[in-house]
Amino acid sequence: MTNELYAVVGNPISHSKSPRIHSLFACQTGEPVEYTAIQAPIDEFSGTVRHFFERGGKGLNVTVPFKEQAWTLADHRTPRAEKAGAANTLYLDQENELVADNTDGVGIVRDLQNNHGVALKGLKVLVLGAGGAVRGVIGPILAEQPAALTIANRTVAKAEALVRLFAKEAGTTVLSACGFEAPDQPFDLIINGTSASLQGDLPPVSANVIGPATVVYDMMYSLQTTTFNQWALDNGARRVHDGLGMLVEQAAESFFVWRGVRPETAPVIEELRTD
Ligand code: ATR
Repeated sequence: MTNELYAVVGNPISHSKSPRIHSLFACQTGEPVEYTAIQAPIDEFSGTVRHFFERGGKGLNVTVPFKEQAWTLADHRTPRAEKAGAANTLYLDQENELVADNTDGVGIVRDLQNNHGVALKGLKVLVLGAGGAVRGVIGPILAEQPAALTIANRTVAKAEALVRLFAKEAGTTVLSACGFEAPDQPFDLIINGTSASLQGDLPPVSANVIGPATVVYDMMYSLQTTTFNQWALDNGARRVHDGLGMLVEQAAESFFVWRGVRPETAPVIEELRTD
């Protein structure tokens, strides 16, 4: 069988783990998937996408800084992409029209629940940040019915806008917005969705949000413990996890969207950790 072509598009892209992840999925499932990385010029995202599909490409992942453009470019959006305001997965439907999906939110929820045994239902959750990455995960987190979801951000207005956007999905969850200085009690789960650590910064949140039972999840990942996770450990967090599992889980969901086959993620996460 000839391989079908998939790729991740971003700028920069050389660091991307997606080609490795998807080639491990292809090996594991026997699906005829060839997956490459494409660096699109900053002002040439739509041309790059068009060219890829004209050449017969089957599906694209989209990463920084093009996720919002992918969302805008699409002819159709899945409901979860619609709400996320950004897309990380593109494909053509039966009518050859471009569909945008977003698998990031499902990715973090599966990583927490399946890989780390953190059932979100009934938990008090603090999310730090209110940018594109956080917007992508709020819907799937709310779907698990945590008791409370507090979104804290440097720019409080952006957290408040997310609360308005997701108010209808909140159900019984107490959904609220605040600045970093406000939360002062321990949470069950803290998710760092700020990009502060890219500048070596910490979101200036009180260490009182960490208690002995608190689980901390940094959406970033790195070889060493992330700056945020180290801070959390130093302040007594029970466990910390980084975003590598989320990365593999969102990839698995994209693979499933394209191929209808769900790869096993645990061996792939394990393999990436030891790369
Ligand atoms: P992403 O796609 O990674 O979410 P983004 O949409 O630019 O990128 O959002 C970045 C998030 O990290 C925002 O919540 C931002 O806070 P503001 O909304 O106030 O800009 C947050 N952030 C970035 N640098 C930060 C820093 N040094 N300290 C605290 N928060 C920071």
